[in-house]
Amino acid sequence: MPRTLFINVTIACLDSESGYGLREHGALLVEAGKIAWLGAMQDQPAVGDAEVIDCAGRLLTPGLIDCHSHLVYAGDRADEFEMRLEGASYAEIAQRGGGIISTVTATRAASEAELFAQALPRLNSLLAEGVTTVEIKSGYGLDSDNEIKMLRVARQLGSEFQVRVQKTFLGAHALPPEFAGRSDDYIERVCAEMLPRAHAEGLVDAVDVFIESIAFSLAQGTKVFDCAQALGLPIKAHVEQLSDLGGAVMAASRGALSVDHIEYLAAADVASLAQHETVAVLLPGAFYVLRETQLPPLAALREHQVPMALASDANPGSSPVTSLLLVMNMACTLFRLTPAEALRGVTINAARALGLATEIGSIEVGKQADIVLWNVVKPSLLSYQIGINPCAAVMQAGNWRSRTGLSA
Ligand code: NIG
Ligand code: FE
Repeated sequence: MPRTLFINVTIACLDSESGYGLREHGALLVEAGKIAWLGAMQDQPAVGDAEVIDCAGRLLTPGLIDCHSHLVYAGDRADEFEMRLEGASYAEIAQRGGGIISTVTATRAASEAELFAQALPRLNSLLAEGVTTVEIKSGYGLDSDNEIKMLRVARQLGSEFQVRVQKTFLGAHALPPEFAGRSDDYIERVCAEMLPRAHAEGLVDAVDVFIESIAFSLAQGTKVFDCAQALGLPIKAHVEQLSDLGGAVMAASRGALSVDHIEYLAAADVASLAQHETVAVLLPGAFYVLRETQLPPLAALREHQVPMALASDANPGSSPVTSLLLVMNMACTLFRLTPAEALRGVTINAARALGLATEIGSIEVGKQADIVLWNVVKPSLLSYQIGINPCAAVMQAGNWRSRTGLSA
């Protein structure tokens, strides 16, 4: 395993309660896959045979973390994109049997190899911009075999590429057509068979549910969480995306890692997120694509110091987005996040949303050496530019994943 000393580097450590935690003229030693030392350049330790990288003042950050994606699926929904441009809403398309269910049909028909091949360019797009951890949800299988198929593909992506994949079971994403009119029976199936089987195969790091008028009720979501927590699994939820059903408060009160979307969350309910240390995951890609106008309760989130994460929500319907840098820009422009909040959203707060903040998400001694060197000298440039990829080099767990831009 390489020992590497970065010198003459600007480090956004993300190790404080706000801001970048910026260290200029810094140095950083990576050893045994971890961050072994960091400090001022003039204090750098004797490093023997370590490789020394002169970063020429460029910016180094933690590896980016995409804490909410539906990266594994088959087909596309470009036809629905056109329908929405002609006036149909996301909910109307879903009620007509399109939406998530059309991706379920395509995903059920695809083999593991086909799903892997179709997910690959999407994963590569994330990796090219310095993503070192990605969460991938099931939810387009909606029966045991097909949910397990999706999660195996997610696992395979993580074992064949230098990226950590967190697998989330989202069996309660939509009601499959064979259960039409019997949603309670479907939830029973999720709890009694689908989740336990996927968990027994070691495929579940967390359990998600979609609580919404076009998906499942608060009571049904609660039932799935009961089952997840009985298995000792962390929970998170798609809530308050199109309307306020009380899902975020319910999830937070059960200690959910995160509540995601939350445009329709009432400001008065934000205190319960703070109380239970639940992360607010904002998904500006879906907000943008669905031309949503209802903003998440940002003032209340800030007032209560709820950690805000950002993610791609990469999926074929509401967010065909595989660029976290673009998501950072959208969060600033659409939600008026500061560039510092945006970078926190794809590093330390995304790590919190996955329950991994003791291992990754910031540059601190003892944490895993997931780091990105950028061809920029200050962090606001990451959120500001659209369409340029300034990623110069990426290290994952102390090993180089790409280093072509080191000498630039
Ligand atoms: O996060 N809201 C529910 N699930 C996804 C969309 C899935 C789809 O439309 O295929 C989301 O927006
Ligand atoms: Fe989603």
